[in-house]
Amino acid sequence: MPDIYYLPDDKLVRADDSETILESSLCAGIPHTHVCGGSARCSTCRVWVVEGLEYCAPRNDAEQMLARQLEFDAKIRLACQTQVLGEGRVTVRRLTLDAEDLALVNQQMVGKTAIAPIGQEKSLAILFADLRGFTPFSESLPAYDVIYVLNRYFRRMGRVIDRHGGTITNYMGDGLMALFGWHNPAGAAEQAVRAGLEMQAAMLDLNQYLALLYRQQLRIGIGIHYGSAVVGSVGASPQSQQVTAIGDAVNFASRIEAANKPLGTSLLISEATYTELGGRITVNPCHFVEIPGKSGRYRLYEVVDIATPQPQTDFSEISTIIQPRSRLQRLTFKLRSLLHHLWTHLTQILRS
Ligand code: FES
Repeated sequence: MPDIYYLPDDKLVRADDSETILESSLCAGIPHTHVCGGSARCSTCRVWVVEGLEYCAPRNDAEQMLARQLEFDAKIRLACQTQVLGEGRVTVRRLTLDAEDLALVNQQMVGKTAIAPIGQEKSLAILFADLRGFTPFSESLPAYDVIYVLNRYFRRMGRVIDRHGGTITNYMGDGLMALFGWHNPAGAAEQAVRAGLEMQAAMLDLNQYLALLYRQQLRIGIGIHYGSAVVGSVGASPQSQQVTAIGDAVNFASRIEAANKPLGTSLLISEATYTELGGRITVNPCHFVEIPGKSGRYRLYEVVDIATPQPQTDFSEISTIIQPRSRLQRLTFKLRSLLHHLWTHLTQILRS
């Protein structure tokens, strides 16, 4: 018979493997919240399986559906649906302990669509951007213009970020944080770097407008790091819930952005981001910098350019379309292919 150790109750319960975790806790007098009575509809019985997930039976359909809806991590299980099998020992932590927890769970259930995972560790690219010299710029303008310029800047950058698959999750004064790869980490670093480069171009464009209107210009500082962070929705009410990311990787990305100022650069990336991109980017010689709050020195790379993705050509289709008939046509076709091949090589050599 399996053992279930409950936290924060500090209670060990010898369970029957025919019963669920919820049934075991209720039999043992543990006040386990279960608003829907155990029908996989409320998620208030959720537990965090701290140890021994391998002894838990796989999710049944009902639990699977709710877990997918709320984007539960594999270790978050519905106690009313989960049985512990075999002779193992499982440690679980009840997650709905008081009225405030209950209110939070209800909040997550409102509308049944989670705008972000309920606290999940994810690999993603984190981009921080900040305007250089915005404080003196804003001091020289009426309040209306300050907000107007900021909104114009955010709208412009937001479009770029959006186009590259990112999401702005936080605004901090004239700064912003955007996440890439939140739903799918594949290609996240590349998306973030492409967005960063395009944001620089968008800033040049915006500067023409600022120079015309205010005779002033601004610079943008961008820092990107690819790493693991906890992503989730936070906010005082369902209306004010917003997605955010927390963790060392987020702080690191923010520090990378800040390093632009002393280094006189505009777009810096971490070594992890550089590695993710393989040889597809052109960078200036790397900087070794100390990062406040972290020991040691870190390599940061200033991005200059990124290779244009090669369009994928379906040659099988072409061969069915192009069917040279005469000898002359065949020769012309071969010659054209050869020239095309040579031209591709030449441009690659020139580019490198
Ligand atoms: S008690 Fe409602 S989902 Fe388990």
